[in-house]
Amino acid sequence: MTTKIVAGAQFGDEGKGKIVDFFSRSADTVARFNGGNNAGHTVVVAKKTFKFHLIPSGAVQEKKCCIGAGVAVDPRVLLQELEMLKKQGKTPALSIDPRAHVIMPYHIDLDGAKEKAKGKAKIGTTKRGIGPCFADRAARTGITFGDLTDSRRFRKRLNEAFALKEKELKIYEMKPSQSERQTFSEYSALGKKLRKFSGDVSLEVNRAISEKKEVLLEGAQGTFLDVDFGTYPFVTSTHPIAGAALTGIGMGVNKIDECIGVVKAYCTRVGSGPFPTELSGKFADRIREKGAEFGTTTGRPRRVGWLDLTMLRTAQRLNNFTDLAITKLDVLSGLKELKACNSLKLGGKTLREWPADLAQLYKAKPQYRKFRPFTLPEKIASFSDLPDAAVEYLHFVQGETGVPIKIVSFGAKRSSTLLLY
Ligand code: GDP
Ligand code: IMO
Ligand code: MG
Repeated sequence: MTTKIVAGAQFGDEGKGKIVDFFSRSADTVARFNGGNNAGHTVVVAKKTFKFHLIPSGAVQEKKCCIGAGVAVDPRVLLQELEMLKKQGKTPALSIDPRAHVIMPYHIDLDGAKEKAKGKAKIGTTKRGIGPCFADRAARTGITFGDLTDSRRFRKRLNEAFALKEKELKIYEMKPSQSERQTFSEYSALGKKLRKFSGDVSLEVNRAISEKKEVLLEGAQGTFLDVDFGTYPFVTSTHPIAGAALTGIGMGVNKIDECIGVVKAYCTRVGSGPFPTELSGKFADRIREKGAEFGTTTGRPRRVGWLDLTMLRTAQRLNNFTDLAITKLDVLSGLKELKACNSLKLGGKTLREWPADLAQLYKAKPQYRKFRPFTLPEKIASFSDLPDAAVEYLHFVQGETGVPIKIVSFGAKRSSTLLLY
């Protein structure tokens, strides 16, 4: 039995939800370790589509679901998601770590206010209160899930935080969208409803591993949205890289057996920030439409571009993937042109990875390799059904990253998946 991390190798939305659902079949426990409800993970099974923001994608297969200490929890969104699952007849067991931080209404107010104040320089956040919530965690002024579920503690923590947040909002000439009293009344009721889910996720996951159960650790966002290693400041406020699974759950380094990097066969990004291989015009629109590249959380059109191997090599260094899952190969099918960036030119130098200093990334020029376009057949039952040109493209990704491709996904449904070994 293995412990697997599933993490995004690009800018998020690589198809992690689908891959987690695929591996959930044989898993006992599926745990989210980072981010919050800025995430939107889609699982398509037969004619049903599930969109998860907080609950792990393992819920579709009714596996034990955990939300680790590294996740920011919006209790309103969590309850909506539980309702959605109930309507679909799914009632997975759920544990939320009491150390996880809670997104409060004033975090959402502040996220909006800060973005507005930035004007053209905005990050393009999901406005779910992620940044302000994790800022409070670091400043030790946050409210944890444990606080929320204990109304006396909650009243005290809220009282301390609220005064500070009112002052902070004043900087932006704003007031909290709801009063302290209203917030206490609504959120203490939410805390009461959710109390039964409180559980020590670190203990549960470590216990499952020692009992030789199969554990899946589900990452949100993607490597280049990492607050340290992404395209700062155009990043999220936690760590989507695989290492964060350890700190987000509370476990040791030697407990991980596999680390799956999810890679979209091209590249997309929502929000602002550098994107060297970005495409524009009608060709970009075609890929966006074909890939249904509109945000799962905010519905925003995603920016699209060619696959970038300089990004993927960097992602490999940052995550040390043992395997890759390549998704959305079908979206490239039938395109007239197919390219991937294989290096960057900066001055007289050729770079095979992204520079640490983003000022250099903005100046770097992508160097492309052209590929023969391909059209996938209607039915794909095994790898041998893929056309030679598609195999060439996949071999290029495998060869240039040095990571074996374990999964090829060619459609949103669970059934449109090849497991190669
Ligand atoms: P995540 O955030 O990484 O889980 O990805 P999202 O769910 O936000 O976005 C991926 C989108 O692509 C979802 O709508 C998926 O249903 C869809 N998807 C996943 N794999 C494939 C695939 O191989 N082909 C196609 N066409 N769609 C896919
Ligand atoms: P999943 O898990 C794609 C982006 C936002 C914005 C930046 C900061 O579905 O892959 P935030 O709200 O986190 O402060 O926004 O990060 N972003 C994502 N982009 N997929 C996601 O999650 C994202 N979560 C945040 O668009 O650019
Ligand atoms: Mg998503």
